Amino acid sequence: MSEKRLKFAELLIGWQRKHGRHDLPWQKRRDPYLIWVSEIMLQQTQVATAVPFYLRFIRRFPNIAALASASLDEVMKHWAGLGYYARCRNLHSTANIVFRDLDGLFPRTAEQLNQLPGVGRSTAAAIAVFSYGARAAILDANVKRVLARCFAIEGNVNSGPVASRLWALAERLLPLAKVEEYSQGLMDLGAIVCTRAKPKCKMCPLQNRCRARRTGMTAELPARKALPAKRSREIHVVLVRDKKNLLLVKRPAAGIWGGLWSLPEVAHVHDVSDELRRRFGLTGDADSVLSGITHELTHLSLHIVPIVFRVVRANGKLKQTQQHTWVTADSLGNFAVPAPISKLLKTQLQQSPAGHTG
Ligand code: ADE
Ligand code: SF4
Repeated sequence: MSEKRLKFAELLIGWQRKHGRHDLPWQKRRDPYLIWVSEIMLQQTQVATAVPFYLRFIRRFPNIAALASASLDEVMKHWAGLGYYARCRNLHSTANIVFRDLDGLFPRTAEQLNQLPGVGRSTAAAIAVFSYGARAAILDANVKRVLARCFAIEGNVNSGPVASRLWALAERLLPLAKVEEYSQGLMDLGAIVCTRAKPKCKMCPLQNRCRARRTGMTAELPARKALPAKRSREIHVVLVRDKKNLLLVKRPAAGIWGGLWSLPEVAHVHDVSDELRRRFGLTGDADSVLSGITHELTHLSLHIVPIVFRVVRANGKLKQTQQHTWVTADSLGNFAVPAPISKLLKTQLQQSPAGHTG
């Protein structure tokens, strides 16, 4: 393998130097904090989407002390829109572990980094490689695709046995030096050239040794996992308006949008008024159902149907608490609101100014 390993790495590093990404904001410094934040964001978010979030995030939380000292709510607010919010909760837990238990110093090996919440084997390796120049193999979704194609590995790349083969391959291919450029090259090649649909094989440094290309199998590899039929669900959310104010409620930590601020959800359209009186002590008029939006999640098409409820009387029980709050259109930006709800609010707050029914 060592001959093969050398050639594979050489081709990839040569490509990386010319065509890979060198100017990403987290590549400026070998700071494990900055690299860790970027790698967590990049777990389920593409580079182009992640960059503006990353810049905003590190401006507010420039180091581990800043992140560990902030409330989860504040951190969530800077994560809102990126999705997969468990990442954000883990980020905050890890910040606290590193700051309080490890004297603010990140572990230096991939094995130790792998112990931190939200840091899987590949992410741990990427942090160790890019922060400390460690020699550790990465294997994220992009890299799995490149390897599955180049070495014609069949089967679902996320199944146990196939993943083990890919890990073993990733370890064997790992060069002895220049691991940073090699690893960045592997990820960039997967993102830029060896794309899921229509890979640009003519631009690929591996084209002469790629088995999928040679056998015309690039469209079949890696095998798609059989997706369970996508479910579809409708939820009703209520825009509770009281003069210029709008009611937000905090979602429970578990489940979709855990810990984010959102609109109250009701089970049945026909008893909106009863439910709001019971839960919040509010009396008012429910307006016609407005046209909703559809939000696509991995396993679910979520139809979000808004209802407007104008408060006529509040019995005083609804004060500002940890679980609910009144906001104005201007202060909405201070709350971590799920992206589809935020989108819905943007249009609804413009279309139906308080006091006007319609
Ligand atoms: N995906 C995950 N980590 C990455 C990185 N450091 N650069 C580009 N894409 C990535
Ligand atoms: Fe991917 Fe094509 Fe390169 Fe093979 S030749 S690794 S399929 S881009």
